[in-house]
Amino acid sequence: MGIMLIVGNILKTRRVKIKETTGEKILDVKGLKKYFPNRKGFFQKIYNYTKAINGVDFFIKKGETVGLVGESGSGKTTIGRCIVRLLDATEGIIEFNVDGKIIDLQKVPKNQIQSIRKRFQMIFQDPYSSLDSKMKVAEIVTEPMVIHNIGSRQERLNTAKELLRKVGLSADDVTKYPHQFSGGQRQRIGIARALILNPDLVICDEPVSALDVSVQAQTLNLLQDLQEDFNLSYLFIAHDLGVVRYISDRIVVLYLGKVMEIAKADEIYKNPKHPYTEALIAAIPKYKAGSERDILLSGNIPSPEYPPEGCVLNPRCQYKKEICEQVIPPLEQVPGIDGAFAACHFFKELNLKGYKEI
Ligand SMILES: Nc1ncnc2c1ncn2[C@@H]1O[C@H](COP(=O)(O)OP(=O)(O)O)[C@@H](O)[C@H]1O
Ligand SMILES: [Mg+2]
Repeated sequence: MGIMLIVGNILKTRRVKIKETTGEKILDVKGLKKYFPNRKGFFQKIYNYTKAINGVDFFIKKGETVGLVGESGSGKTTIGRCIVRLLDATEGIIEFNVDGKIIDLQKVPKNQIQSIRKRFQMIFQDPYSSLDSKMKVAEIVTEPMVIHNIGSRQERLNTAKELLRKVGLSADDVTKYPHQFSGGQRQRIGIARALILNPDLVICDEPVSALDVSVQAQTLNLLQDLQEDFNLSYLFIAHDLGVVRYISDRIVVLYLGKVMEIAKADEIYKNPKHPYTEALIAAIPKYKAGSERDILLSGNIPSPEYPPEGCVLNPRCQYKKEICEQVIPPLEQVPGIDGAFAACHFFKELNLKGYKEI
């Protein structure tokens, strides 16, 4: 029964576009913190914490793609893992909309999380290591159905075949092993696996970072087509602003476990409000012969074990003033721009450069 429902949903939801029809939130993250303890010595005593996520707020609406962008080490994967409950948050609320009912994921007991977990799935960065090389494609793609005890063996196989076709592979691929596929094809297998339980929200953790540029575009197109077909909401993680530009509705800019800026995608490229966003825009490769990326930030991202006082960006920020070393800037609504927020003491007076001007 369950399986027929899933196959039915998959078929029925084709070409239903809900992007502009609902403002309902699918996910609401409030005050999220994740601290990893650091231990040393014979007794493994905790001596301090890596503050991987340090008070993060954002939401995703139904059918929306939210880009989560920041340099490596800024806490993106940790946020994804907390949302799908691969990690327990240290503090904060993660609310998920399950058929109109708002559920605080942190409060769901571990033994009941399984039934909600099928509503959100994660696609991982590395299509080489994220698939078990000893398993056939059929086993990889249908494993979530086995875990959730859905369908008979034959029904599961049929669903896998149907899904493989939808992600641009062949139904016959079910009998093959991961090593028989290219990187882009493997990522498609990972996508089929993530979609087999017909989830509402998919966390795509740098799904194209390990792929060749030509394959990246195909994979992004596929993810966009699947979003319409399956009524998906996406949290799309990337380490640069180039990749998420065309597929995100809104973008959350993260740095050292804190949100620097949130705005609609076109707004953030045209009119960045945070020096960190300006720097990420300047670093977008311009694909012109001889052109170089502009480096607006000095030095490297500090360790979240010892985050800077005040604004976390201050040691690297070219606009820094005294207050930036002392006072943490709150995430504030940008006056006059709907849905735009920035965490910078000077965002109202800085005149930052957008994509076209650089
Ligand atoms: N399981 C873990 N134990 C300890 N530290 C971790 C763990 N996972 C991530 N971190 C640390 O948290 C910070 C953020 O990591 P991550 O979320 O992977 O960032 P990103 O995905 O943006 O590159 C990094 O400093 C990383 O070393
Ligand atoms: Mg990561």
